Amino acid sequence: MPRRLTGFTPSGDLHLGNYIGAIAPIISQQATTDTVVFISDLHALTLDHDPAKVRRRTLEFATMLLAAGADPQACLFLVQSHVPEHTELHYLLECTTGYGEAQRMIQFKEKAARQQQVRMSLLTYPILMAADILLYDTDEVPVGEDQRQHVELARDVAQRFNTRYGPTFTVPRAVNPPIAARIMDLASPGDKMSKSASSAAGTLCLLDEPQVLRRKVMRAVTDTGSQVTYDPAHKPGVSNLLTILAACTGEEPSRLAGRFDRYGELKEAVADAVVTTLAPVRERYLELACDPRHVRTALRTGADHAHELAGRKMRQVKAAIGLLPG
Ligand code: ADP
Ligand code: TRP
Repeated sequence: MPRRLTGFTPSGDLHLGNYIGAIAPIISQQATTDTVVFISDLHALTLDHDPAKVRRRTLEFATMLLAAGADPQACLFLVQSHVPEHTELHYLLECTTGYGEAQRMIQFKEKAARQQQVRMSLLTYPILMAADILLYDTDEVPVGEDQRQHVELARDVAQRFNTRYGPTFTVPRAVNPPIAARIMDLASPGDKMSKSASSAAGTLCLLDEPQVLRRKVMRAVTDTGSQVTYDPAHKPGVSNLLTILAACTGEEPSRLAGRFDRYGELKEAVADAVVTTLAPVRERYLELACDPRHVRTALRTGADHAHELAGRKMRQVKAAIGLLPG
């Protein structure tokens, strides 16, 4: 059975892009695929952060993933910092990665340009991500377009390590969700809907109340003209709405376009579909949030299991790279 893994960084509010691009695809296959889902709390420390918020969001993300259907019996479910092998492997992979390789990462360049002081960890973050992936012999990493380059780096590092020190790691590959690899901001459809950079008005958060979701969709920026067509280059706003509708209903965006005569009708349909998709997740979240001990227990069990698997892998890696067993 192929192993599939993905992580979520607790650095902002989870939104529809995260749900469609990452959460739903991995959870929908946890029964038939060997699945690892984790909260990448260490990645949240690469930019300015408020310690209390990172802690609160880590629990919030874990609760949200359970609400979205992650089943700790069916998948490995954990918080990255609870399993010290992630950082242990990170260092060994830094010894396998070129400085230029890390510096070339597009996300590094974009994020570094917005910082007054760039943390060293922002540069090495994709190597920690490679460690997350390689530690569990992952075959597939379902991510949106923005993370593809980081998965490519993990591939390169795995191949290099295997060539230099003998076959040690499974070489992973990025897999795209079938539709909507990139959901755009409703208020500014040229930008990705994102936890960090986008506007509150254009981001559909998983914890938004149904009427808030509806209002945000109805106020979405559309394009000149009035015909509903799927044309991302010339009609980014309308195409994004069609993409969202397609992702919520499992249909084709261009086929859906033919069903609407006016932008207003399309928006109504999108609002309904988004509420139908997200309202049950939010309700379940609110129930689970009343019992944080249940969530903590699930995370502890996951970390214990992961520690066992990862410990075995680390012994193999250390031997290959030339460390004397303790
Ligand atoms: P953000 O960009 O909001 O900070 P992350 O980079 O933490 O989100 O992404 C978490 C997961 O969600 C990744 O797998 C990422 O590819 C996916 N993702 C994030 N934003 C979107 C989006 N707008 N559309 C589709 N998938 C997305
Ligand atoms: N860097 C990813 C993000 O911010 C989260 C992440 C961390 C991840 N480690 C990972 C995703 C490993 C896939 C595989 O979105």
